[in-house]
Amino acid sequence: MRRNPRDLTRYTPGQRATHWVVGISFILLGMSGLAFFHPAFYPFTMLFGGGTWARILHPIFGVLMGLAFILMVIRFTKHNLMSRVDWQWIGRIGEMVNGNDEGMPEQGKYNGGQKLLFWLLLLGMLLLIPSGIVLWRAYFDFPVEWVRWAAVVHSATAVVMICLIFVHVYAAIWVTGTIRAMWYGTVTRAWAKQHHRDWYRQVTRD
Ligand code: HEM
Repeated sequence: MRRNPRDLTRYTPGQRATHWVVGISFILLGMSGLAFFHPAFYPFTMLFGGGTWARILHPIFGVLMGLAFILMVIRFTKHNLMSRVDWQWIGRIGEMVNGNDEGMPEQGKYNGGQKLLFWLLLLGMLLLIPSGIVLWRAYFDFPVEWVRWAAVVHSATAVVMICLIFVHVYAAIWVTGTIRAMWYGTVTRAWAKQHHRDWYRQVTRD
């Protein structure tokens, strides 16, 4: 939705739909998965119709998230290639966190932190999904040693991924005007100029 005719398009409806399939399945996966991780989280199974249903549905959400994430990787990888400027931005992230972002290196469509997070999420998915398949004993029959290793890799990666997504969501809320990029697909010119000046120049030729 273009609230103002001068707003800039950041995401197409297809890109937003793919992101929200990943986001919603991640939340469902987190809740159903944590229920098997520690008894304190077991009440989450109520949301899925009980323990048996949570166990059946968890890997199905995983397949959904994996497929949607592949689409995201195809669409977003080219915008997340790290450059020297991105590493400089990461080296000065303290200034950004303290609200002194005027002197930060100018950023393209994504800043160094977003790009680094993208690659960490990709690495996480590459560990999470194959280890999840090894653990999906209703359909696959891998040797028991593999299943034991997969359980360690899967749960450790899931905990790290949940922490990374907390950072992602916190940053999206903290930088005012970002959530609407994924919600309506557009951002204001002022937002683009302040946070992604190089991208602003590319899309406006200003
Ligand atoms: C569930 C809560 C989530 C919220 C509120 C959220 C919010 C957002 C927002 C607002 C953006 C736009 C940022 C910008 O254009 O500068 C974004 C981008 C993105 N999100 Fe999420 N997100 C969520 C979950 C996820 C999950 C679970 C993943 C992947 C596992 C994910 C991966 C991404 C990626 C890859 C981008 C594009 C940034 C890039 O390519 O570097 N998000 N998200």
